[in-house]
Formats: sequence, structure tokens, C-alpha cells
Amino acid sequence: MSFPSVRMRRLRRTSALRYIMNKVKLSPSDLIYPVFVDENAKAPIPIKSMPNCFRFPIDQVTNEVKQALEQDVKAVMLFGIPKTKDETGSSAFAEDGVVQQAIRKLKGEFGDELVIMADVCLCEYTGHGHCGKVKDGQLENDQTLEILQKVAVSQAQAGADIVAPSAMIDGQVKFIREALDDAGFDQVAIMAYSAKYASSFYGPFREAADSTPKFGTRKSYQMHYGNPDEALREIELDINEGADVVMVKPALAYLDIIHRAKEKFNAPLAAYNVSGEYSIVKAAAQNGWIDEKAVALEILTGIKRAGADLILTYFAKDVKTWLNQV
Ligand code: PBG
Repeated sequence: MSFPSVRMRRLRRTSALRYIMNKVKLSPSDLIYPVFVDENAKAPIPIKSMPNCFRFPIDQVTNEVKQALEQDVKAVMLFGIPKTKDETGSSAFAEDGVVQQAIRKLKGEFGDELVIMADVCLCEYTGHGHCGKVKDGQLENDQTLEILQKVAVSQAQAGADIVAPSAMIDGQVKFIREALDDAGFDQVAIMAYSAKYASSFYGPFREAADSTPKFGTRKSYQMHYGNPDEALREIELDINEGADVVMVKPALAYLDIIHRAKEKFNAPLAAYNVSGEYSIVKAAAQNGWIDEKAVALEILTGIKRAGADLILTYFAKDVKTWLNQV
């Protein structure tokens, strides 16, 4: 028996060696900060299942986003909780809708220093909590497309840089691209939630956004987690329909999908480190079972290493400070 001549440990010996060999580095420029705007709120409302996350009143959104900018996070994704809901989610495309108001405020305050993204979906705006028009208990695909067009155009009119359709309606990217172009917004980009799985990790978000379906599930429009190839077909379709950025969601249980999508398409790729993934880390950290900072940085770096160019995460505002501490 001879001792090893190849010794992998040589390059791990000192912290300077480890420093030069560390090749995937997380940066605040990778991050998108999701922000909840609540038309009814008078003060920030804590979201119980997501410690340190809040629903903000419209007039406090700029202050919250300013804090993100100070942490070098220059992109936000806006979700709205409207005053009124109806069968078709019409407050999602109102000129003075909650997200439209927030966008105008942010654009006025920060101009092009900030990338404003808005979620294009109806589940927060419909009484039944599904992501589009419902008939006989089923989500109607083609009748929902026109509504999504109106939502996207109204967000572009308010000043959104990127609209992000998340309803998993077939043809949504094509329809939204056409509507934006027709309305003169050919410079507004689309980030498509292309491979969105029907996931139990969205639970805390539904509390945050008040978007739990009142009956049934989202399984007839979001994907089943046992099907990886379908995700690649969804992504390919969205790229062909004109998506500028494609997304995989959630992130942690889907790192294989992120990796395959990056290898196959080499298109700008986002991953959503969703609410449940955040809450798990927070809960364990509050119990003293894990080190929140270390675990969060490891998770986010892992998502980047898998192939994500952009990561939506509720940890966004903490990352710069944490990186300076390690
Ligand atoms: C809207 C939407 C959801 C999320 C983002 N956009 C919820 C859902 O599909 O039920 C989830 C985000 C998160 O869990 O952090 N359709």
C-alpha cells in the first residue's frame, strides 16, 4: 500500500488557499427581493409564518426598498394584496391598483436605479383564490389570457421594468409579449415563471398574500414534482414565446431542474427560493438548531452553483451584511 500522491487537501490548507479556490461567489447583484404591498395596511403587518417579513402599506414601500438598495439589492418583485377581490381579479389591472400605485411611487423615487418587477397573476385578486377565471371548478385557460394581458400592460404603464407571469396559463408569455408590444412597451421585459411546480413550499406565501384557493388545488395548472422533462418543455416554450428570463420554482427541491435548464438553454435563468424554504431556515434558527446566516449563504450559493443567474429570496436584505461577516 502506498500513500496518496494526489492530495486534494493541499489546496484547502490555509484560508488564503481556500479563498483563491472559492469559485462560486454569491453577490447582492444576484438577488431579487420580493415585497408584499397591502392596500388595507396602515402599518407594516408581520407575516407570522415568515419571521421578519411584512405586508407594507403603499406609502411605506419606498422606505423598505431603500433599505434593500442600501444592501446593494437593486431588483424587487412586487406582490399586491388588494382592498377588493372579485371573480375575475379585476383589481389586478386597475390603473390605481395596489401594485400599480406602488410601482409609480418606486419609479418616482428611484427611477432607473431600481429594477421594478411585478408578479402577473390573479390569485391574490380573485375571491376564489385561483390564478385566473374559473368555470365549473376549472381554471379557464384562454379566457384568462386576456386578463393577464391587461395586468401586464397596466403594470408597464405604471413603470414596471419587468413583468413576471406566474399563473402557469398556456400561452401567457406569447399573449403578454404581444399586448406589451401593441401598447408601445417593447422595452419591457418578461421574466416567466416557466417551470413552476405545485408545491407545498408555497404555504407561508399564501398566508402572506392571502391567496389560498378556496376550493381545490393548483395541480391542474402547476406541475407535478415527479416530472422533470415537462419543466424543460415549459421553459423551451416560454423562450420561444419571447421570455427574456425564465424561472424555476421552488429552488431547493428542484436544483436538478435548474441545472438542466441552464445546461440546455443557456438563457438568463432565475430561481425562486420560496416562502416555505425561508420559513424552514427561520424556524430552525429560532430554535437554535442551525446557524441562520451560514445556512442561508450555503443555500443561496448552492442555488447559484446549480445554474441560477438570479435568485428571488426573502433573505435578500441580509446577504451583504452576512457576506461581510464571513
Ligand atoms: C402566485 C405566486 C405564488 C408564489 C409566487 N407567485 C403562490 C402560488 O402559486 O400559490 C409563491 C412564492 C413563495 O412561496 O414564496 N401564483
